[in-house]
Amino acid sequence: MIEPIQLSHGVVFRVLRRDDAERLAATYIKNRTHLAPWDPERPDDFFTTAWHEGETAQQLAALSSGAAVPMVLATPTAIVGRVTLSGITHGAFESASLGYWIDADVTGLGLMSAAVTRIVEIARAGVGLHRLQAGTLLHNYASQRVLQKAGFDYFGTAPRYLRIAGEWQDHKLFQKILHD
Ligand SMILES: CC(C)(COP(=O)(O)OP(=O)(O)OC[C@H]1O[C@@H](n2cnc3c(N)ncnc32)[C@H](O)[C@@H]1OP(=O)(O)O)[C@@H](O)C(=O)NCCC(=O)NCCS
Repeated sequence: MIEPIQLSHGVVFRVLRRDDAERLAATYIKNRTHLAPWDPERPDDFFTTAWHEGETAQQLAALSSGAAVPMVLATPTAIVGRVTLSGITHGAFESASLGYWIDADVTGLGLMSAAVTRIVEIARAGVGLHRLQAGTLLHNYASQRVLQKAGFDYFGTAPRYLRIAGEWQDHKLFQKILHD
């Protein structure tokens, strides 16, 4: 059970809920231009409540099975960001991938830095992982700064790593070891 955490500026960091779908669709519509350079190409139906009802159900199934931890940053009226641990792998790896974004209207307030600090604790103390990994585009300096502030280390550049904005693009890879 992951308890909601109050961040600054009236934003709560909590687990995704089934009834978030409509608000997620509204926020993705509002932020379509803001997120386009950093996201995979989105089909038009991505910007519908129906698409997010399906995706939310998948994410909550992944939470139940231990494969993911889907979190949102929420105000009383809107979803203003997401943080997701995905690909949780146990055994010799005990690792997961970290992804995140925030609404353009609330960037630069320290919210994602606070949320990433919290998800690191959830990964360490709640899930019991050994390591988190995140990848950024080479020119995503804001994202790199968030990772740096949370104690992630750069460990290499992966060529043509993810198809972002329709192109296979190189990524800087960062990791954080969660235990000594
Ligand atoms: C990356 C992102 C999540 C950051 O969220 P945020 O809430 O604005 O982050 P914070 O306010 O906690 O911190 C941002 C840091 O980046 C710095 N920053 C912002 N733009 C920068 C730039 N162009 N160059 C260098 N640093 C920059 C800020 O000054 C701040 O650092 P500081 O606290 O030392 O001053 C947000 O910009 C976003 O959603 N971008 C689009 C989606 C995306 O890139 N997702 C991540 C994919 S890897």
